[in-house]
Amino acid sequence: QNLAVGIDKMDFYAPGYFVDMANLAQARGVDPKKFNEGIGQDQMAVPPITQDIVTMGANAADFLTEEDKAAIDMVLVGTESGIDQSKSSAVYIHHLLGIQPFARSVELKEACYSATAALHLGLDYVRTHPERKVLVVASDIARYGLETSGEATQGAGAVAILLAANPRLALVDPDSAFMTEDVMDFWRPNYTDKAMVDGKLSLRQYTHVLEQVWDKYQAETGLTLDDFEAVCFHLPYTKMGLKGLRRLMKGASDEKKDSLRTYFEASEQYSRRIGNVYTGSLYLSLISLLDQAEGLKAGDRIGMYSYGSGSVGEFFSLILADDFQAGQDKAAHEAFLDQREEISVDRYEALFNDVLPTDGSELTLTAEHPSETYYVQGIADHQRHYAKR
Ligand code: CAA
Repeated sequence: QNLAVGIDKMDFYAPGYFVDMANLAQARGVDPKKFNEGIGQDQMAVPPITQDIVTMGANAADFLTEEDKAAIDMVLVGTESGIDQSKSSAVYIHHLLGIQPFARSVELKEACYSATAALHLGLDYVRTHPERKVLVVASDIARYGLETSGEATQGAGAVAILLAANPRLALVDPDSAFMTEDVMDFWRPNYTDKAMVDGKLSLRQYTHVLEQVWDKYQAETGLTLDDFEAVCFHLPYTKMGLKGLRRLMKGASDEKKDSLRTYFEASEQYSRRIGNVYTGSLYLSLISLLDQAEGLKAGDRIGMYSYGSGSVGEFFSLILADDFQAGQDKAAHEAFLDQREEISVDRYEALFNDVLPTDGSELTLTAEHPSETYYVQGIADHQRHYAKR
């Protein structure tokens, strides 16, 4: 029952193109400081038509070894950018990665929260099947629309997480506090590919749910902020996480506040350069923390706040494993972000409007950016076709 299970390996993928937020601000007639400091974003990933949640998820999970693929019993995809009302994106990802056939493949949905549900469901399975593994993929494209107030908080990307017993990166503490509250702060009806949002309500709800689950977590576990070395947040934009951190730090000593702020700055680095990746955002901030923070050590407890509009939230924690540093590749992650191509605001707008047809017409595509190992090859017979190069 108390078997040590958690995150064995983890990586991310972001599309090969990005727009500089200062250029976007200029094009929109906004002070760049609003985007860079007020929102806390420096760059925004822009997906080409050849990347969807399936290809970004497969690209993120490209680290899996043949041994991993033989041991994976479940592929769980958290997303709110589904490509089909019936068939799960997990089935496509299972196929593209070549995972052994006797596996469950399912997609889960609850806005930005669902990958956290997938993580806990997957860990419950590993606890009872310690020789086996589970792949969790969080993959999304955040679209609000050109010249909308949400525009500066778009982004795209995926995180892939391999769950196993005796994990290399972090143990996941099964103690957790979560809640559901039906609120219309953010949603996307089937007839549109752009999110609808009540921005100010979404901020309030993010914070309200954080306060509720944090209080419940402390009451049930007896842990306090002093037990946490760092806290990672869902980062719809990095300033939102900072607002969350400030809530948790109320009453903390100056020394503790300084240390938590320094760790927060490490955790926001990759989101600052990619934007909102919805379901993967919390886990992208964890990867950023493990890469960029100095002074973390085995046994440290990391708080995790997951929030999905609509709304569901959860607070839980990880304990860094003995070998956690060996499992991370900071240089590779930085090189990956650096090899992306900066595009103009005009090109971003063109890519934003260049979407797959929704009327059943066919097309064939070729991937252009070198990072697109897996890409959408086209549509034929009402089916998306994928390829690996
Ligand atoms: N220099 C520095 N800062 C400036 C500035 C300037 N010249 N001009 C404005 N700012 C600051 C503002 O003071 C504000 O900071 P504070 O929040 O700390 O006060 C910040 O920039 C943003 O300014 P506004 O509040 O005026 O921004 P806005 O109304 O144009 O839009 C938004 C902000 C509501 C977040 C909008 O981008 C949006 O709707 N985004 C999508 C929804 C979202 O991300 N919600 C987050 C919680 S919901 C969630 O987490 C789920 C999810 O993933 C969507």
